[in-house]
Amino acid sequence: MINSIKDEILKRLLAANGEAVSGQDLADVLGVSRTAIWKHMQTLQEEGYTFETIKKKGYLLTGVPNSLSPTQIELFLQTEHFGRELHYYDVVDSTQTIAHKLAQEGAPHGTVVIGEEQTAGRGRMARPWESAHGTGIWMTVIVRPDVTPQQASSYTLVVAVAITMAIKTLYQHVEPAIKWPNDLLINGKKCTGILTEMQAEADCVQALLVGIGINANQGAADFSPDIAEIATSLRLEAGEEINRAALVASILQYLEQFTALYVKEGFASIKALWEQLSCTIGQRIEVTTIRERFEGVASGITNDGVLQLTQDDGTVRIIYAGDIKL
Ligand code: BTN
Repeated sequence: MINSIKDEILKRLLAANGEAVSGQDLADVLGVSRTAIWKHMQTLQEEGYTFETIKKKGYLLTGVPNSLSPTQIELFLQTEHFGRELHYYDVVDSTQTIAHKLAQEGAPHGTVVIGEEQTAGRGRMARPWESAHGTGIWMTVIVRPDVTPQQASSYTLVVAVAITMAIKTLYQHVEPAIKWPNDLLINGKKCTGILTEMQAEADCVQALLVGIGINANQGAADFSPDIAEIATSLRLEAGEEINRAALVASILQYLEQFTALYVKEGFASIKALWEQLSCTIGQRIEVTTIRERFEGVASGITNDGVLQLTQDDGTVRIIYAGDIKL
C-alpha cells in the first residue's frame, strides 16, 4: 500500500534538486513529529535511497534505487484507478497466482501485483517465464471490464498496444512491434510477453488477470541458453538503463486509457492502431494450434481481434488462438 507521508517526504527531497531539506521543515509542513520523519527516512534508506545529513541544513538525497516499490511508482503515476492499489513483493512464485487470489477476494479494477523476482513465473501454454531479481517488470493487473467472456478474448491485443505506446513514448529510438497475439518484439527478438487469464461466470467477466513480463535491464549473458537467441531486453535495444518504475507508470496510464475506450467502443476502436504497431500483418506465417500446423499470409485482423490467414489456395482461415512463426 502507498504510504503518503513517506511519498511526500520523497517528493520534497526530489524537488529540492540537489539542495538539503530540513527535517524540522518536513515535520512542520507534513504535520508530524521529527521522530516520525526520521523513521520514514530509515524506511527510505532500507528501500535503497541514499542521503547525506548536512549539519544545520538537513537531508540531501544522493541516490535513488531502480526498484518497483510503490513509492517509486507513485512518483510517476498519473492514473485514476490503475496501480492505485499496488501489492509489491520482493520474491513471489508468480504474480498471476497472487492476483487470482486477490481478485477472488474482491480486489478493485486496476489493482496491480508486482514482484521483483518470480520463482515460478509462467507464460502461455504452461511454459516457464524467466523472472530474475530486479531485472525485469513482472506484474499482473486485475482488470474488471464490463464485457462478455467472448469479447474479452481481444483484450490481450489492447494490452499489447498500451505497452508498445509506453515504450515508444519513453524510448523514442526503440521500435517495438506486436506479434499476434501476445508478444512484443524488438529487432525480431522477444522483449515482452502477455498472459491474460480470466475469472468468469457464464456470460459475465469477473476479472481479467493480465500478466505482463518485460525484459527491461538484462544483459545478453543474463538469458538462459534456451532463450538467449530469441530474447532481448529494452536496455540492450535502447542502449541505456531502463527506469522500470517510470515504464510501469506509463504502461498503466495507457492501459487505463485504452481499457476505457475498449469497454465503450470495442476492439474496433483500437484496431487501426494495433495494425500500425504490428509486425504480423502482410507477413508469411506458420501457425501452430493444439491440433494442427499450417501456413499462409496474415492478411488482416477482424473487429474482434481474430487473425485472418490467407492460404496459398486463396481460402481464408480464421485463427482464434495459437502460436505463430514469422
Ligand atoms: C508469454 O509470452 O508466454 C507470456 C509471459 C507472461 C509473463 C508474466 S510475468 C508476470 C506474470 N506472472 C507470471 O507468472 N506470468 C506473467
